[in-house]
Amino acid sequence: MDDTTPPTDGPHLVRRKTVLRAALAATAAVPAALLGGPALARTLASGDTVPPLTPACDDGDDPTPPQMEGPYFKPGSPRRASLLDAGTTGTRLTVSGYVFGLACRPIGAVLLDFWQADANGAYDNTGYRLRGHQFTGADGSFTLTTIVPGLYPGRTRHIHVKVQAPNRPVLTTQLYFPNEPRNNTDTIFDPRLLMTVRDAGGGAKEAAFDFVLNVPQDPGGPDPTPTATGGTWAQGTTYRVGDRVTYAGRAYSCLQAHTAQPGWEPPAAPALWRAL
Ligand SMILES: [Fe+2]
Repeated sequence: MDDTTPPTDGPHLVRRKTVLRAALAATAAVPAALLGGPALARTLASGDTVPPLTPACDDGDDPTPPQMEGPYFKPGSPRRASLLDAGTTGTRLTVSGYVFGLACRPIGAVLLDFWQADANGAYDNTGYRLRGHQFTGADGSFTLTTIVPGLYPGRTRHIHVKVQAPNRPVLTTQLYFPNEPRNNTDTIFDPRLLMTVRDAGGGAKEAAFDFVLNVPQDPGGPDPTPTATGGTWAQGTTYRVGDRVTYAGRAYSCLQAHTAQPGWEPPAAPALWRAL
């Protein structure tokens, strides 16, 4: 789909695509956070230039497929978005994305519990190294900071995750890396679970993946994005990177210089604003 075709994925996503395109057009210096965002993957795919490795969320899409839990899950992981501990070695990796329901509307407060092997392919089965859970923000977004997991016998490279929307069943699945030789021989591997991965500079990697949960939603219902209830954010204001505002009771930090416009409210523009 492009902007000339009738929208089928709801006003929220159309608005975010528009925001991202405008932000991309507005500056040649695109921040890494924007390049790594899953919405950019959708934008590229809509231009028919890059195949959609990250599942685009369009009405009628199948939910993210489940995968086996495997033998190394442990309940009770610490709540943390970064799995890096002192002494964690390996290639730094950031995984960011959104959790959507069946109508492609983002879902907040979704539990994401990640666990993975270390750089040598070993799981910590006594403690909680490289294990942690977090919750999506009100805009459905999440960011995981970790390392690229190592390989271990019999499997290709992967990250385990359990995803649970409030009062909904748990989706247990795994995320995969493109261009891994073992993707061709691992019988569990599923290309629908490939992340988009790119170099982030300094030897680090940035990945993106969007989950689609089997959660019914009303595509014509009210936009789940909070509406303005006061705050310092104001249309027409030129914001610079690092500027802080409040909107609907939450604080945000500016990720990309821009002039605020209707539709670019902080909760609706995660590429422009990071919730604090
Ligand atoms: Fe595993």
